[in-house]
Amino acid sequence: MAERNTTIAAVVLAAGQSRRMNSDVPKVLHPVLGQPLLAYPVHAARSVGASRIVVVVRAEHEAAVRDAFRDEDDVVTAVQAEARGTAHAVLAAREALAGFQGALLVLLGDAPCVSAGSLEALLAEHAERAAALSVLTGEVGEPRGYGRIVRGPDGDLAAIVEEKDAPAHVRAVREINSGVMALEAPAVWDVLARIQPSAASGELYLTDAIALTRAAGRRAHAVRAAGADEVLGVNDRAQLAQVTAVLRRRINHAHMLNGVTIVDPESTFIDARAVLEHDVRIEPFTVIEGESRVERGARVGPFARLRAARIGPGAVVGNFVEVVRTDVGAATKALHLSYLGDGALGPDVNVGAGTILANWDGARHHRTTIGAGASLGAGTVVVAPATVGAGARTGAGAVVVRGEVEAGATVVGVPARRLGPEGGER
Ligand code: UD1
Ligand code: CA
Repeated sequence: MAERNTTIAAVVLAAGQSRRMNSDVPKVLHPVLGQPLLAYPVHAARSVGASRIVVVVRAEHEAAVRDAFRDEDDVVTAVQAEARGTAHAVLAAREALAGFQGALLVLLGDAPCVSAGSLEALLAEHAERAAALSVLTGEVGEPRGYGRIVRGPDGDLAAIVEEKDAPAHVRAVREINSGVMALEAPAVWDVLARIQPSAASGELYLTDAIALTRAAGRRAHAVRAAGADEVLGVNDRAQLAQVTAVLRRRINHAHMLNGVTIVDPESTFIDARAVLEHDVRIEPFTVIEGESRVERGARVGPFARLRAARIGPGAVVGNFVEVVRTDVGAATKALHLSYLGDGALGPDVNVGAGTILANWDGARHHRTTIGAGASLGAGTVVVAPATVGAGARTGAGAVVVRGEVEAGATVVGVPARRLGPEGGER
């Protein structure tokens, strides 16, 4: 990160009505690759050095947003009592930023694709040009719904015109406002307080700060984002899928550059927080969720699903295998059609086709431990809580019911049980 003398704070706007989502869940809390949509701009702001991040929310969403960021103490919330537009939303953060002097970065909670690199470039140019306001723009094929960038004869930023207010020749412009801005604090507060409601919508537009800044003889500057897809915003669920695809490709690409083989990135879904070491091989149609970790030389897929799992070095999780909150030891193999839930498998375990760790008794989850070198025959069901000792073996179709198989022992078949008339054991 470039050295800069300015302090940076961020405001992330997330108090809009989001009617177009038609959802009972706040738009910015819709999950995208294992994180709420809002986590992307929040983390981007943090990655460029924002020391304080204020998320502007609707009163009825405040508790849910706070809860989503409960472990991140640089994130605070501010309530915008009524959604009266983006300028009004930034003003809602004023109290939380009292006394702050420096560059105020504004991001949109519904625009998750903006990269740290583009934010860096925005902040750097903002400082170099001593601008009072700088906006990140992008060139898109289909500008519908976005504010259009209007440049003056000198090529400098003249205005941003919202689509609802734009005449036809301005609607034709394909350079659009990403919604991301750098603003000079504390001067910005007076500028925002002077913004008037739009004639078309009655909203207070943050984009109107440009005209006011220029009228005051101060510089407003526009910086193009490095990639066109960085400016994508989510207003509806089709756009939610669109940004998910962009972020997913980015994650896959980063893993590949780090030494992970992804046979078919287009059919591979890896959550933002998953960790993959080098020489991991991911076969097609694999889904890796949550804070999963796949260690060096492991192979996963095709058609595998990991959820908060750890796959040890050299292990293989094959086709149609689901691994949930389970630790799979080094060189352990589960090649076909298995469900491994809430388990800890030692190294060199062989898990036969169709094996199930039955972790749920209808009310609670229970854990299973499988020792080093154990071998589970095809179709074994282990009803947790259970322990299978090191080197133990089960025959095909064996059922281990809540208990312990000693190290080196062999279990075959289904234990005989008799049930009373009420289903109780006798
Ligand atoms: C906004 C920009 C537009 C830009 C686009 C990029 C303005 C006036 N328009 O339009 O130029 O091209 O984003 O995606 O800034 N919000 C609040 N409180 C409000 C209104 C909005 O917090 O009163 C939040 C929303 O939750 C959302 C963000 O601000 O996260 C943008 O609001 P939205 O209504 O989606 O604006 P757009 O029409 O997309
Ligand atoms: Ca939007």
